[in-house]
Parts: sequence; C-alpha cells; structure tokens
Amino acid sequence: MGEVTETRKDSLVFAVNGQRFELSNVDPCTTLIEFLRYQTPFKSVKLSCGEGGCGACVVLLSKYDPVLDQVEDFTVSSCLTLLCSVNGCSITTVEGVGNSKDGFHAIQERLAGFHASQCGFCTPGMCVSLFSALVSADKTNRPEPRHGFSKLTVAEAEKAISGNLCRCTGYRPIADACKSFAADVDMEDLGFNSFWKKGESDEVKLRRLPSYNHTNASSKFPEFLKKELKAGATLVSEGYRWYSPVSLEQLQSLLQMNEDNDGTSIKIVIGNTGTGYYKELLGYERYIDLKYIPELLIIRKDQIGIEIGAAVTISKAIKALTEENEYEFHQGKIVFKKIADHMEKIASAFIRNSGSVGGNLVMAQRKQFPSDLATILLSVGTWVNIMTGQKVEQLSLEEFLEMPPLHSKSVLLSIRLPCRESTKDISSATDTKLVFETYRAAPRPLGNALPYLNAAFLAEVSLCSNSTGVTLNNCQLAFGAFGTKHSIRARKIEEFLTGKLLTVSVLYEAIKLLETTIIPEDGTLNPAYRSSLAVGFLFEFLSPLVDTPAKISSCWLDGYNSPEWFMDSKIKQNNDQLGEIKLPTLLSSGRQVIHSSKEYHPVGEPIPKTGAAIQASGEAVYVDDIPSPSNCLHGAFIYSTEPLARVKGISFKAGLSRDGVTALISVKDIPGENVGFTSILGDEPLYADEVTQCAGDRIAFVVADTQKQADLAASLAVVDYDKENLEPPILSVEEAVARCSFFEVPPFLCPEQVGDFSKGMAEADHQILSAELKLGSQYYFYMETQTALAVPDEDNCIIVYSSNQCPEFAHDTIAKCLGLPAHNVRVITRRVGGGFGGKAIKSIPVATACALAAYKLKRPVRIYLNRKTDMIMAGGRHPMKITYTVGFKSNGKITALKLDILIDAGIYSDVSVIMPQHMLGTLRKYDWGALSFDIKVCKTNLPSRSAMRAPGEVQASFITEAIIEHVASTLSIEVDSVRNINLHTYNSLDLFYKSNAEELLEYTLPSIWDKLASSSSFYHRTEMIKEFNRSNKWRKRGISRVPTVHEVLVRPTPGKVSILKDGSIVVEVGGVELGQGLWTKVKQMTAYALSLVQCGGTEELLEKVRVIQADTLSLIQGGMTAGSTTSESSCEAVRLCCNVLVERLTALKERLLEQMRSIEWETLILQAYLSSVNLSASSLFIPGISSAAYLNYGAAVSEVEINLLTGETTTLRTDIIYDCGQSLNPAVDLGQIEGAYVQGLGFFMLEEYPTNSDGLVIANGTWTYKIPTVDTIPKQFNVEILNSGHHQNRVLSSKASGEPPLTLAVSVHCATRAAIREARKQLVSWTGQNDWSESTFQLEVPATMPAVKELCGLDSIQTFLQWTMGKK
Ligand SMILES: Cc1cc2nc3c(=O)[nH]c(=O)nc-3n(C[C@H](O)[C@H](O)[C@H](O)COP(=O)(O)OP(=O)(O)OC[C@H]3O[C@@H](n4cnc5c(N)ncnc54)[C@H](O)[C@@H]3O)c2cc1C
Ligand code: FES
Ligand code: FES
Repeated sequence: MGEVTETRKDSLVFAVNGQRFELSNVDPCTTLIEFLRYQTPFKSVKLSCGEGGCGACVVLLSKYDPVLDQVEDFTVSSCLTLLCSVNGCSITTVEGVGNSKDGFHAIQERLAGFHASQCGFCTPGMCVSLFSALVSADKTNRPEPRHGFSKLTVAEAEKAISGNLCRCTGYRPIADACKSFAADVDMEDLGFNSFWKKGESDEVKLRRLPSYNHTNASSKFPEFLKKELKAGATLVSEGYRWYSPVSLEQLQSLLQMNEDNDGTSIKIVIGNTGTGYYKELLGYERYIDLKYIPELLIIRKDQIGIEIGAAVTISKAIKALTEENEYEFHQGKIVFKKIADHMEKIASAFIRNSGSVGGNLVMAQRKQFPSDLATILLSVGTWVNIMTGQKVEQLSLEEFLEMPPLHSKSVLLSIRLPCRESTKDISSATDTKLVFETYRAAPRPLGNALPYLNAAFLAEVSLCSNSTGVTLNNCQLAFGAFGTKHSIRARKIEEFLTGKLLTVSVLYEAIKLLETTIIPEDGTLNPAYRSSLAVGFLFEFLSPLVDTPAKISSCWLDGYNSPEWFMDSKIKQNNDQLGEIKLPTLLSSGRQVIHSSKEYHPVGEPIPKTGAAIQASGEAVYVDDIPSPSNCLHGAFIYSTEPLARVKGISFKAGLSRDGVTALISVKDIPGENVGFTSILGDEPLYADEVTQCAGDRIAFVVADTQKQADLAASLAVVDYDKENLEPPILSVEEAVARCSFFEVPPFLCPEQVGDFSKGMAEADHQILSAELKLGSQYYFYMETQTALAVPDEDNCIIVYSSNQCPEFAHDTIAKCLGLPAHNVRVITRRVGGGFGGKAIKSIPVATACALAAYKLKRPVRIYLNRKTDMIMAGGRHPMKITYTVGFKSNGKITALKLDILIDAGIYSDVSVIMPQHMLGTLRKYDWGALSFDIKVCKTNLPSRSAMRAPGEVQASFITEAIIEHVASTLSIEVDSVRNINLHTYNSLDLFYKSNAEELLEYTLPSIWDKLASSSSFYHRTEMIKEFNRSNKWRKRGISRVPTVHEVLVRPTPGKVSILKDGSIVVEVGGVELGQGLWTKVKQMTAYALSLVQCGGTEELLEKVRVIQADTLSLIQGGMTAGSTTSESSCEAVRLCCNVLVERLTALKERLLEQMRSIEWETLILQAYLSSVNLSASSLFIPGISSAAYLNYGAAVSEVEINLLTGETTTLRTDIIYDCGQSLNPAVDLGQIEGAYVQGLGFFMLEEYPTNSDGLVIANGTWTYKIPTVDTIPKQFNVEILNSGHHQNRVLSSKASGEPPLTLAVSVHCATRAAIREARKQLVSWTGQNDWSESTFQLEVPATMPAVKELCGLDSIQTFLQWTMGKK
C-alpha cells in the first residue's frame, strides 16, 4: 500500500497546556487519559467511570485549521479518546485553564466561592465543561454581553454541566457558579456564596466576583503547533499502526489490506466513543481513522434535503440541522430542528462532540445498540450510502437496519435526510400540513441516559372539507430502543391510519394494533412498561387531532409556526437580548437562608472550603495522583461470580498476553492472619480460603506492570469452581431465617422497646396487621473508586496511602495480615474523593491487598479499582424486609407499632450489627404510643453490606412514613394531619429517646414544622395542587411535608496542634477530609481557640493554620470518620489542644507585657520557642455522658409532578429547614444538607442496584446506575439553616449536618405517592366507579419511571379511550 499521508514518520505531535509532546511508537489503543495521567504531570484529568458517563475526565480539545486560520474548541472525554487521534491538536486540562502558580481562572475561583466543590473529584471536569461553554459562547457573534459577563445564557450554563456527575454537592452551587457568567442572569437569583450578601446591588456583586473578561475567553492554541501545521507537518504515519486515509481510495486499499490479513485485527474509528458501551478488553492491531476523508465529513444542503457524512460528529450535525441556510425548507426546517433537539439528548456534550453520526448508526446496525438517531432518522425516510470495495450503494435506513450486520470492510459513507416538500409538494396545499414529533423516555430528561423507548412520528394531515375532523393522509411511525434488534417502522399501524378520519375509536384501534407491535424481546427489563410508553407517545401525538377540529383549526393550519402544535412545548420563543431562541432554564431560583454567628469568630463564618481552589485547578492530590515510586506494580482483584463454591484453580483465557503480569497473590501468600478487616465486631477474610462465600468475594490479586494489564488479566481470569457437596447458598433474608443464619447483635448495641405494645393495640380503634415493605440497596458512587498505594520501607516496615475513612482500622488490619507489629505499619490519608461510608470498612481490604502484594514482592504496589469491580464488590446499603402491625385511633393517632425487620447484611459482619441501633434512632421519630420490634441481622451469601450515609436511618425514615401513609389511607384522611397528630410532644420525645432528648428548649421540631408550613406556603400549595389535578388528566402533582429526628453519637477523637517557629500552625486530627469540610471547620476552631491568647495579629490566624493528612503513626486512635459528628469532635479535640497552648502562652505573654506595651503573635511564638515553651499539644476528646449522643431535627416539603404517560417524576420544589445548632460553618453545612438530600433523592427515586440470581451485581456502571444529575434535582430548592442558639453540651453549640438531611428526601417519595394516588383515583373513575375508596398501594424504592407508570396504570390510555367512547 502506498503512503497514506506522509510528512512526519513514527511520531505524534500535539500540545497539552501549551507544552509540546512528540511521541513515537505509541500503542494505538492508548487512550488520552492514560497518557495524561501516567506520562504527564497533569493529573487533574480524573478517571471515574472509563465509559463516557461521568465527565470527570473531560478535557478541551482544540483543532487548528491552517487554511482558514481558525481554531475549533470542544470538550471530549479523555477516557474514550484515543491518543493517536489527537495528533496536531492542543489539549487543555484544568491546570491549563488556571492554577495556583499562574493564577486561578475566574471559573475556579467562583466554584470555590459558591461552595461548589466538596470532595473535589468532579470539580476539574466541571470546570473544563464550563470553560468550553464559555469559549464557545464568546466566539459567537451574539451581541456584546454586559461588562464582566460572557455571551453564555443561563440555560446554556446549566446545560454545560448536565453530563458531569457530582455525588457530593447536589449540583445547585455548581449551577450557580456556572450561571454567574451568563449574560442574562439575574444576580439576585444566584445562591449563597462568599462574594456578596443578599440584597447588595448588582454593581457591588459584580465587583466582588472574580473578574471575567469574555474577550480573553478563547483557548490558547500554541503558535509552535500552528506553525508546524501550516508547514504541513501533520498527522499520521504507519509507525504506530494508526492510519488516517485522506481519500476513499486510500481507505479502500487499507480495507483490502485488512481483508488480506483475514480482517480480524483492524478497526475503523471515528470518535471511539462506542467503546464506552462495547468495552474492548483487547486492542486491535491497526486502526483506521475516518476523520480525514472529505466524503465522510460532508454537510451538503440542497433543495432535496441534507446530506451528512458519516464522520460528522453529532454536535456538528445538530448545528447543521439548526443553522439557517439558503434553501428554506419551510416545514422541513422545523422537522430538522426537532431532530436536532432530540439529538441534544443523546449522551452528553463531550460525547456528542466526538461521537459521530456514522458510528452511532453502525453500532445500531451491527450490534443492536439502542440508538436514538436510528429511530428519529427512520421516521423521516433517511437514506444511507454504503461503500463496499469500490461499490457505493444507496439504501433506505430501514433496509440498512434490517440487513445482516455490516461487513467489516464495508463503510457507511453518509446519510441523506430528505426534505418532505421535495418528495411531495404539499406546501401549496393550504389545508394539508406536516406534523412531526420525537419522543424519548429516559431516567434523566436531558440525556446521558439511554431511553426505555424512543419514537418519532411524521404525519401529513388535512382538515376535512366540512371541518368535522382531521384526516391522516399518511404517516411514518418509528419506534426503537425498547428491547428490539433495531428501530422499526410500525407499518401495520401506518397502513391502518392512512386515509382515516381521526376519531377516538380510530385512535383506540391504532393503539390496540400497537400493543401487538411493540413487544420487547425476552430478557428486556420492564417489557410491559416499554410497550405502554409506545402507546403513550402515539396517544400524545394523535390525540390533539382527534375529534376537536374547532379547537385546533386556528393553530394547526399554521403548521410548524404554531408553538402549541409544532414546537416542543418546552421550547418557547423568547426574543431576549441575545436575539436567540431561549431555552427554559432547568432550575428556578433557590433560596438559602443561613444565620452566621460572630460569637466564636471565625467559627460560625461561612468561609469557603479549604483547598476548594486547588481542587478546581486539579492540583489537589488524591491517592492515585501520587506519582508512582520507581518499580511500582499495579494490582486488580479476581472476584468470584459464584455465591458459594470451592475454588479449584485459576487460569487465564486464551489470547491474553501474560506480558507485564508479575504475580498472582492469594490466601496462601498471607504471612499473618487472613484478614481484610478486623474489629471487635468481627473479622472478614482478605481472600476466600478454598470456598468463596458470595459473588464478588475476593479470590486473588493479579499484579502487573500497569493498571491496564492488571485489569485485563483479572477480567480474563477463569476460575474453576466446584459446588459438589456444598449447601445451596443463602440468597434472601427469608432463606436466612429458614436456616437461622444471623449475626448476633451485642447487648450494648441492642435498642430498647418503648411502652406496652399489647396495651397500645388494645386502645386502638383500627389495626393494620402484618403489612409488608421491602427496600433494596444503594451504591455509594463516590467519584473516586477504591484506591491504595503500598510502599515497602526499611526494616520490614510498610507505608500505605489509602483513600480511607478509617485509617486506624486499616493500620490494624494490615499489621495483623502481614504478621507485623503495629509500629511497622503507617497508613496515610490526605483526602478522599467521596466516601459516604463506602470508604470506611470497604476500603480496608483494598489497602491490605496492596500492602500484602508489596510486602511479598518487595516492590511498591498500587491499585485503582475500575468502576465495574468497585460496584460488584461494594455491597452498598442494607436491603431489608419489614413487616409491621399498627394500631390507631379514628383520628389517626397511633397507639402501638410492632416491627419485624430482616436486614440483609451479606456474608461478613462488617458493621452491620450497628443497624438496629441506627434504625431506632429514626424509627422513634413519631410518638407511636408503644413501639415493639424484632430486628434480625441476616447473614446471606451476598456481598457484605456496609454503612452508607445515614445507614439504617434512611430506611427507617421510609418505614415510618410508609406506615403513616398507610394509616391515613385506611382512614381516608389527609396524611399531613396523621403526621401532625403523631409528632412527639416533649414528654413523648423524652420517653422515646430518654436523656438524648435533652432540654425542652432544644426540641425545635415543632417550631420547624410550623415555620416550614408557612415559609413553603404548604397549605396554599396543597389547595393549588388539588386544582391542578382537577384540570390535568395526564399530569398529576403531589406535595408532602415530613419531619426528621436523627440520633447521632459522638465518638472519642484525637487532635494535635503544633505552632512552628514562624507562627504558622499545623494541625492533625483523627478525622479524615472527605469533602465534608472537616479541615475548614478545624481551621476555624484552631484560629478561634488560639486567638484567646489575646495578642496582636490573632485575627489573621486562620491563614496560618494548615491541617495535614491523617497519619496513623503520627496521631494514633484516629477512629472512624463516620456518623456526621467527626468534624465537631475533631474541632473539640483541637480546642482542647489550643486551650493547653493558650495557657502556656498566656503566662509568657503576661511576662512579656511587663516589658513591652503590646505583643504580636509572631513575636510571642518566637519568644516561646526561645524560652523552650512546648509549642505542641495533643489531646483525645472523650465525650461525657451528656455530650455523647444527641438529636438532630429538620423537616422538608417537596412537591412533584408525575407524567402519567411516561411515569417521569419531576421534583418541582423542595423546602428544607434544618437545625444546625450554632453552625460551625453554615456554608459547609448548607453543602452537606443539599448534597445529602440529593443523595437521598437518588436512593428514593433513581438508583437501582440489582443483582442476578447468584447475587452478582448487574448494574455495574454509569449505563445502568443512575445517580441524580443537574436535571433531576429539585427545580426550586430552598434551604434554611436554623440557628437554634445555645446548646450547652454541644461543641460550641453546633450540631451535625452530614447525614440527617438525607432522610428528608423521603418527602419526594411521599409526594410522588400522593400524585400517584390522584392518578389512580382518576383511573378508577374512568372504569365507571364513582365512589373511589382509598386503596393502599406500595410504591417501590426507588420510584423509577416504570414503577410510577405501573401504579398509574400501564393501560390507562386504553381505559381512558374506552371510557370516552362509552360516554359518546
Ligand atoms: C456515555 C454515552 C452515552 C450515549 N448515549 C446515547 C444515547 O442516549 N442515544 C444514542 O443514540 N446514542 C448514545 N450514545 C452512542 C453514541 O452516539 C455513539 O457512541 C457515537 O455516536 C459513536 O460514534 P463514534 O464516532 O465515537 O464511533 P466509534 O466508536 O468510532 O465507532 C463505533 C463503531 O462503528 C464502527 N464505525 C464507525 N464509523 C463507521 C463507518 N463510517 N462505517 C463503518 N463502520 C463504522 C466502528 O468500527 C465501531 O465498531 C452514547 C455514547 C456514550 C459513550
Ligand atoms: S471517566 Fe471519562 S467520562 Fe467518566
Ligand atoms: S464534589 Fe463533586 S463529586 Fe465530590
């Protein structure tokens, strides 16, 4: 074969943050992220999912066109982008946007100032996504924005981060930071921040914001690279098996070569995003990049339509479809616009920017990918051009989809979307119009979630001459992604409808036909739901045309110009100052009310989180960012896929090159005890000893030269199992009960019953007996997966860097496993990229496995778990089954409750035995009269469950509200009144919580409850919702107010404060910084407590304090960072240290003041040093009886709207009031409240964590596990942090915030249930029954779209149509 392009051989040239890189001999399957993280200092690019689903790895890619002298900038996911494809490009990571050395960018400073970075692991990706949006907007020729703003709109600013996941913040502050750049923002709408106070003028606000100049917004494409590109020194060579043909002839000859080589080892690529879905473990020999062939990049518009080259990215196709052009397509123009709108919901911007139209269609054709593109293009009669050898063939998209999988040497060249007017000139016929609409139902409205079903309908309709109705002249109905091989045209229904006058009965018949057409294949999840979606969409499309000509005639003849008909109702024409179509914003303004206190200044100030700016610039160092020591190896776990089986051996699948694999470590390599976690509550083995105990159990650890090699080896390992003579595994709590398989709860963790249950039942007017509830699990989804680095040290010592919530326990476990004295082990944790309980116990085996491998191999060993393995091994939240019996009076007052709870703890005890105590902390939140319970912690052959944020409390919150609602529905009375009547009085609180109830004045729930009713206009909105529900058939709303009472425990915690000679201060605490702001509060406390020495300069002490990493040999007895109280107890430990130091310094200060009139801090410290005053103090804070436990209070009101056609739930508004005592830092606490609430919302509404029948987790990535995104949080989110004043037994009167607010998210679930109830009431009325007596129904957790729709009636449309026909 001849040269493809030739100027520079064997090397790739590109720039990263302005730095030139020239590489030769690149393995063509190397991804950009691998290169950036392992071969450059730019570690800001984070790996979190590796499949394009999270945005943590996003970088800005800039391309220079030497002919046009233009730079094009766009984001891409570096985890999917192949390194060879960036030849000639400039890459900007967030360090290149701004950094601590050259100055932070306004984006980074604003994210910090809006308190928008907690653990910080998502922050670099967020910054780059926003940066790219600013660069793009500011390049447009839109009118000049106001000074200090960008040309970005608020809607665009929100959308900029819609593909980026954040597990900590709840998104609201991130969205506000983004919106602060938007030209059309109302500054008053922006949320709480460190720049201004509410009410200040816009001018002042703008002055205080880190400045932004939109004229400097562009990315800086390096001049050297421009020169090289101008000189033609571009692109590719054969040296690294990467080909970039620039003509079809070259492509043909390359493919011919492929055929000669039996066609197995060559891959065509465009964006390579397809590998996000179809993971490729083994790379290909050769790659052919199609991005340089002009025919594949074509965008040609003419009278007959638009032709789009297969290599055109989805983003560019969207632009082409929406751009004005010389050929006015009239009606077709709107069709194209709607196609483009739908395409905006495919994946996220950073995928659409590199993913191509051709790649998507080929995936759909060859591999049955549930494509949106295929469906919408099918509905408009798209054609495709296919090249096979020299032959180019034109097929309809339908033929293309139906033919056998495209041959590997065939290439999709382009697609052609016809313009309808050209196929049949209907524009002249004034009474004939086109109607077009597209649909998709997915867990996230904005995309980044595959649809359950998508559809697109094109119809030509005309008004009957006598105006009695609308006739459907012809139509094209396409459906896809519903569990079918490919998108299909519903031909039977099309034929049936053609020529028909649209009436209710015609619609009914069409729907009946559809029921027999849209049938998902066996094995598809939620098949009935998907079929019902098809019905819903067709109904939504046709029903406005049915039988109502008078109503519609005024608008429908306007064709696509009519907003009511032809524009998505969500899109409003709004000629704003930018003169563009303005999209509605995702979020409306929220309100944050905080009361900061000066009493213990700077404690109580809402100062931004320590390290937020370096988190935003990507300079914050997480465990996997620590440079590898030389000789470092990497590990990966081989886990069991069987729940209970003997392991006879491990081999590797053929095809695996053993290159780089160094060792396989298993139980036989353990010098000490086989422990992966050890505590007084029980041990857990590091590796399965002969018999694996659950799917996901650790069997062995492969060690290799690189993480990729280790992961590959682990995934290709074949475990030989033997199940002979083994008992069947226990895979449910019922089986555990049958086989008496329980963990014993130690007496000190057994909660007490309250009152006399039998007596309470005897007092009841009504009883509900043995009702059942079930709850599933939830995965932590920390953005940083489990990770550790172990480095052997001299004299049999080992240092382990671990992302860990309890380094002390990791330390003990490692020592025991390695058979070493504890002082030979050192565990260091600087920061954790999200924990939520998942990095407490679950991180310990990971650290221990690394330590063991390093110890055995005498080389450093590190691991960074891939998302799939992490999800399979994590265990997550405890599922449970609850049976309850409840007695109550006719007014709703409950007199007795009995609960039988079976908790699924999985195989190892972990910390599961704390669950009963935790559950009772919240189960007692109502006055049940008497409360009796039997809680069993079941041992099953499932991965062991661990504590997850609000462990037990969130389940308890659900249980209590479900019971209250059951009582209300049994009595047919308002749920809120049942809640009201069962709220505790102080006396009942005292009875249920004993001394933890504290003083009467501290019981703030009743006042919060009332205050929230008025601040959220609860009663007024309840009435408005009734009206809404009366006048809307297919949307229903619900509202719910719930309280929380949350018991927290305070644990002993150490601290150490040292003052250095220059007056700077270094602090160590037992707690670990997880993003919860612990370091910030500790700094504030240190500054406050040391300022009591009262000398000059103490007001600047905050700047002098540095909190350093947890180090288990430097500060012992660190304990666990868990249970919401570590920040306050760490603060208290620090305060004790400072008190000692102040005492020592005060004596000296008094002496010095006898000689001088005043004394400055630095002088005092220097003098103390010279006088040998001990400038270091350590302490162990041990809470007393009165301070060891207390109650947190709060309440929330949530309002939701459900779509009865799709089951989609939108949280319209949430109001929270939460008592933080006297907050140590209201900004940090606000972030905790919002973040916890949104994590709870995920649990209640979105996150399904299912397993297969063996207990192996099957939702193991971002494709199947859906945490909330910015488009699924409450549209309006109002939070007030109540400062409830003085609390004698608390740390400076403060109260915890990390977990309790999570339980309030149950309000969304309750509101959804209320809305569903309305839907069910309506459904019953359509069946002809007028007396709807409230029936009880269970709404699953999570209340996913299928679950909601099912309860609203999968066939509600058919019922409605039958009822309508019956009426007539
Ligand atoms: C996180 C994520 C979310 C997504 N969500 C959605 C969604 O909601 N809806 C949806 O429809 N899609 C979705 N997609 C799919 C996305 O649209 C495709 O991944 C993308 O369009 C593929 O384009 P590409 O250029 O990256 O293809 P590549 O990955 O480069 O190629 C894909 C496949 O097609 C082959 N191929 C590519 N071009 C040609 C050609 N011209 N001729 C012959 N073979 C070819 C390749 O060899 C490869 O096998 C999502 C993708 C990701 C990663
Ligand atoms: S790591 Fe690339 S998108 Fe998640
Ligand atoms: S701050 Fe976003 S994931 Fe932690």
